[in-house]
Amino acid sequence: MNKELKETIKEIFNLDIDAELLKSNRPDLCDYQYNGTFDLAKVLHENPYTIGLKLKESLEKKEDCQKKFSKIECVKPGFLNFTLSDAYMNEILESMITEEKFNIFMPKEETIVVDYGGANIAKPLHVGHLRPAIVGESIKRLLQYMNQNVIADVHLGDYGLQIGQVIYGLKEEGILPDAITIEKLSLIYPKISGLCKEEESIKEICATITKDLQDGNEEYQEYFRAILELSKKEIKKIYDYLGVHFDLWLGESDAYAYIPLLSQELEFLGLLKTSDGAKIIDVQENTDKIVVPPCIYQKSNGAYLYGTTDLATILQREKDFHPKKILYVADSRQSLHFTQVFRVAKKTNSLKNIDLEFLGLGTINGSDGKPFKTREGNTPKLEDLFLETKQIFLNNIEHDTTYTQEDLDKIVIAIIKFADLQNNREKEYVFDIAKFSKTIGKTGPYILYTYLRTKKIIKNNENCIDNLSKTIYNVHDRNLRLKLLELNEIMQYAFKTRMPSVVANYLYEICVLVNAFYENNHINNLEEDEKKKDWVTLLNLTTNIIDTLLNILGMDIPSVM
Ligand code: ARG
Repeated sequence: MNKELKETIKEIFNLDIDAELLKSNRPDLCDYQYNGTFDLAKVLHENPYTIGLKLKESLEKKEDCQKKFSKIECVKPGFLNFTLSDAYMNEILESMITEEKFNIFMPKEETIVVDYGGANIAKPLHVGHLRPAIVGESIKRLLQYMNQNVIADVHLGDYGLQIGQVIYGLKEEGILPDAITIEKLSLIYPKISGLCKEEESIKEICATITKDLQDGNEEYQEYFRAILELSKKEIKKIYDYLGVHFDLWLGESDAYAYIPLLSQELEFLGLLKTSDGAKIIDVQENTDKIVVPPCIYQKSNGAYLYGTTDLATILQREKDFHPKKILYVADSRQSLHFTQVFRVAKKTNSLKNIDLEFLGLGTINGSDGKPFKTREGNTPKLEDLFLETKQIFLNNIEHDTTYTQEDLDKIVIAIIKFADLQNNREKEYVFDIAKFSKTIGKTGPYILYTYLRTKKIIKNNENCIDNLSKTIYNVHDRNLRLKLLELNEIMQYAFKTRMPSVVANYLYEICVLVNAFYENNHINNLEEDEKKKDWVTLLNLTTNIIDTLLNILGMDIPSVM
């Protein structure tokens, strides 16, 4: 429509300007509105209302507009209001039914690596790891749905100081590599990391162990492999439970093989500077308003750091997949780290052509507004959180449904994921399981409940799924159809901004409208054939869309709610 509007403005006023039809902010009056008359008025020195009338008259003569709109109105002081025609709405909905993927316009296919999850080995996963997993998985699925060739990599934190600390602790207690257990690991890390904060000499020893491990020390390598295997298994279990799946289970340690090649290029380009024995790369730019410290590439003891492994990993990905883009889904507090890494990459020849995007995440907070902790003041382990959620959901239930364990797990995941995904990923939010577990309100259970209830109506009237009629029967019916018509625009926007929250909020809006629809329109008792067919067909399209959106958000559907 924007094109037609632009053309009409050109025809009448001989002006070349872009025009945009917006979704109406007064849905009781119209579906779309054009407010550009006020800008035109300034240029043309004419009254906006007169301009609006001229546009309306001219648009009404156009065949295309006659087909699309049942009413174009100009209201004082100069707004142009558009109401879609029932036949046109149904024609578009019909194309969503018949065409693949609801006739959504697909962007060009590109190879995109999504780096998310980012669990660290040798430490248990806690609530802070939820968000990168949940949001990252959803971004991956969104991109896949939009036709992209996506490669998901967990990028384990497996070669940093924590490994040196854990190896030190294990050796101190005389535990050999093949005697390591998850329980022992989970006790050792907090103990030694606490010790390191108190005693500089122990911290030094752990740093040396880390460096020697990186250099290939056989004994430490043996410890490392044992810790990696055990931890990976544990981490996988939790990600599996969450429905979070990666194509690649690589980590920082896998990038080490690429460091020599990277160093060679950085040396050749003269980018490495020595400062206090360390090798650093300047990344400050003239236009920066703040100090951006250099990227530390190699410590004075020879150890490599977080930035180095991220750079080497880009090189590894370039060699393996030639990606057009790499997306990093991680805590917003890592923003400076990624700025440094991206700037270094741009200075090289081998990495400069890859688009690097950092998708920052806000923290999950407790009711005190600080990062979420248990009542005892610890960061809760994910497994405990799942159990607690299950219990709270069951305590809340008023009807006596019996759930299988499998269904309960799906519900727990839906509770946790929808609570997270409805928030803009950059913003923090307060974790409140009791609120998230309710079947009313903006919650996972409400969405699942709506889906299953609608599905039941369809199942009872399956023989009625047919074509849509040419009619729209009442306001609840029309509101639902209008919402479904937004799908394409919503998906484009969510894709462009990498924002699952756009999908989640849209899904919620559909559910509110479908609830209003079936509360006011009783399909099961209907006799009128055409209307019944139309409504069942509409609901069938609706549940197909809900199903797809749930899948993009990574929420599985239980058999009952
Ligand atoms: N392991 C890191 C952490 O826990 C997150 C990894 C994010 N991804 C990356 N390529 N640096 O902080």
